[in-house]
This record gives sequence, structure tokens and C-alpha cells, in this order.
Amino acid sequence: MLVCFRLRKCLLKWLGAFLSTLVFAIALAQTLSPPESISVANSTSPTPAATANQLIAASSLQSQVKYDRKLAHYATVFRSDGSFRQMFIAPHSLAALQPGELLPNGTLIVMETWYSPEDLGAVFIKQKQDGEWRYGSFNPDHPDYQMSFGGSCHRCHAPFPDTDFTLTKPLLEAALRTRQVQTAYCDRAGRTPCAPEAYLPEES
Ligand code: HEC
Repeated sequence: MLVCFRLRKCLLKWLGAFLSTLVFAIALAQTLSPPESISVANSTSPTPAATANQLIAASSLQSQVKYDRKLAHYATVFRSDGSFRQMFIAPHSLAALQPGELLPNGTLIVMETWYSPEDLGAVFIKQKQDGEWRYGSFNPDHPDYQMSFGGSCHRCHAPFPDTDFTLTKPLLEAALRTRQVQTAYCDRAGRTPCAPEAYLPEES
């Protein structure tokens, strides 16, 4: 069919055949590809708002294995710069908690620092020993629960004796009471502490 004898005619014929094959291939590819909404839903970079909603929706207090430990997510604190922090407590510490009392010796709290929903930074930990908090931090890929006393970590926590040198004890107690993960909002960027009122549960 595509046999031809004169060069110009021949080229035109081939070009025509090539173009119609191309159009057919594009039409076929479009029929076979999934509708756009599915590829959007599968997007791997959720918007901060979408992720925040998911975090709030997945909100019942339950323990999970994280960093080689069982930990229960009790609160998320959102910041004005889009960063947020997620607080976890060891289940044995949750069980030992007496609302209104100081946190007992042995209490282990873990905090993830998220710079954006895709960007998890260092993991912070604190554990109470002999009535004092020990602090530590590790890279999420390398769980390490080594801790030391005080130092630069305690600087920001020291002005909060009423909540046992934590900022999130009221949220922790509310989580225990309601069995729901608590959320709070601090209208400052980074890790600068907000006033204690920012860390009160919404219900009170
Ligand atoms: C610049 C001030 C600042 C410094 C320094 C700081 N923190 Fe905090 N930390 C905070 C604030 C504020 C919160 C409450 C969460 C929020 O508002 O983002 C918090 C919360 C925590 C929590 C959750 C339990 C709680 O106390 O409410 C842990 C665990 C923690 N910090 C560990 C550490 C460790 C470990 C270090 C040192 C490596 C450290 N922090 C140094 C400001 C600070």
C-alpha cells in the first residue's frame, strides 16, 4: 500500500501514515490512562491543611510501635509557620499518671518535630528520674534513648513549674480523660514557647 515511485509522493505518504499512527496511539493512551482525579488523590505531597485534618481525624488515643518502643500519641501542637510537633507517651507512663499530681518518676515523653508534613526533623525525649527531667534527642532513623540532665534543653521548660516543667501536661491529662488525641495552636514560629493558655485543651 505504501509502495511509491516518486520521492515527494513517497515522503508525503509516509508522513501521513506516521501521523495517523501517532494520533491513534495518543487516543489509545488516553483511553487506557486512569481518570485525573485518581492520580491527584494518589499524590505523595499532601497540603499542610489536608495533613492537619488527617491528624485531627485519626484522633483516638492508642499505642503504636515507634522508634522501637510502644508509644501513645497524646497531642499535636501546630505553629504559625506551618511546623507542628507530635507528642507521645510510653503506655506505662500513661497508666501511672495521676491527674493533678506531678508526673511520676520513670515518665517517658517523646516529641517529633515536623517542619512541614513531609519533613520530620529530630525526635526529642525527656524522662523523669529522681524527680528531675533528663533530656535527649535523636535522628528519626537512629532511635537512641540516651539522656542527660538539664543543660540547654531545660532552659525553655524551666519557666513552667506549674505543669511540672512540661508545656503539654494539660493536654496529656485531657487525652487520658477523653481517650482522644488533643490539638493546640501556638501563634509563634519555631519552638518559642507560647503562654500556658495555648496548651490548654479546647474543652476546658
Ligand atoms: C526554644 C525553647 C525550647 C528548647 C531549647 C527546648 N524545648 Fe522542648 N519544648 C518547647 C516547647 C515550646 C514545647 C511545647 C511544644 C510547642 O509549643 O511546640 C516543648 C515540648 C517538649 C516536649 C514534649 C513534652 C513537654 O514538655 O510538653 C519534649 C519531650 C521536649 N520539649 C524535649 C526537649 C528536649 C529534649 C530539648 C533539648 C534537646 C528541648 N525540649 C529544648 C520549647 C523548647
